[in-house]
Amino acid sequence: MTVVGLGVPTIRRDDDAPAADMPRSGPLVDTFGRVATDLRVSLTDRCNLRCTYCMPAEGLDWLPGDDLLTLDELVRLLTLAVTRLGITSVRFTGGEPLLYRGLEDVVATVAALRPRPEIALTTNGIGLARRARALADAGLNRVNVSLDSLDAAQFAAITRRDRLSDVLDGLSAASEAGLGPVKVNAVLDAVSGLDDAVELLEYCLRYGYQLRIIEQMPLDAGHLWRRDANLSADEIYAALAERFTLTTDPAPRGSAPAQLWQVNGGPATVGIIASVSHAFCAACDRTRLTADGQIRNCLFAAEETDLRALLRDGADDSVLEAAWRGAMWRKAAGHGINDPDFVQPRRPMSAIGG
Ligand code: 5AD
Ligand code: SF4
Repeated sequence: MTVVGLGVPTIRRDDDAPAADMPRSGPLVDTFGRVATDLRVSLTDRCNLRCTYCMPAEGLDWLPGDDLLTLDELVRLLTLAVTRLGITSVRFTGGEPLLYRGLEDVVATVAALRPRPEIALTTNGIGLARRARALADAGLNRVNVSLDSLDAAQFAAITRRDRLSDVLDGLSAASEAGLGPVKVNAVLDAVSGLDDAVELLEYCLRYGYQLRIIEQMPLDAGHLWRRDANLSADEIYAALAERFTLTTDPAPRGSAPAQLWQVNGGPATVGIIASVSHAFCAACDRTRLTADGQIRNCLFAAEETDLRALLRDGADDSVLEAAWRGAMWRKAAGHGINDPDFVQPRRPMSAIGG
């Protein structure tokens, strides 16, 4: 059984599609008819881990403080997204979003917007044990925690920090605080990854977390990614299928990036996110806001739209709205990772947000 992709949109776009055709109200659409309802907000590009597939050991040149959106600017854009652009789901990411001071306040502010969006967090889990309860009280609905190996030495080799127990504590605190379904995101190491995947799935089954394994994408700061060096979704599926009985999950996949498999007859599931080998761009419903106020219409976009400059020029909401709509209108059919002329984005994953 292979992992099925959702391809790229089949409707062809006239690249000169006049912006005059762009709807000025209603949902956030692109020229392929996709509707973006899921906003990913990177709150900071900083992180307390140094995952090898993301950051160099010495870290990166962080975004200068003046470039970052202020809390007021951030709240203004979040309000616009929910009240004028049809965003129904907001996910906070980083870098590491728990390093953003006032995360609980931002969550509470978004929870007070109407229609109230679903609010999720993608975190490495460090510090989550202390904050899960307050985040849930503020209105956070769900968390995804990144965890690539349960072997402490392997965890430290991948993240360059000896913090496995903090992450495991964070996971259980999230579960106790009701931030479920708690999902575990794993990017596998090329050498130990298949063993790690089996252990992670056993662990997640035991604690009631949903494991989702993500193919490694070319988003590392060092631009060292090589397709052949990484495990593919099909290889991961085969390794899991040797140890567990996997059957196709009957629930419709919708715009979810993970293809889900029921494990040992269900109801537990495992997801495989085949971002590289079986792209799901045709079903993408994402729009992204970076910590420095840029709209990205794709993880792999070459172009960004500068809302921070507009905000600081005194633009009113209708100008900001039109700029955000324009950014999404121009979204490409697919990420192009598999094209010969693919160029990796200038920003690494830590400055875009997962
Ligand atoms: N490829 C795939 N996933 C990545 N992540 C970070 N870098 C990459 C990459 N190069 C994942 C993290 C985290 C989420 C934010 O994105 O593991 O779960
Ligand atoms: Fe930090 Fe996430 Fe990058 Fe790891 S992948 S260094 S946890 S931002």
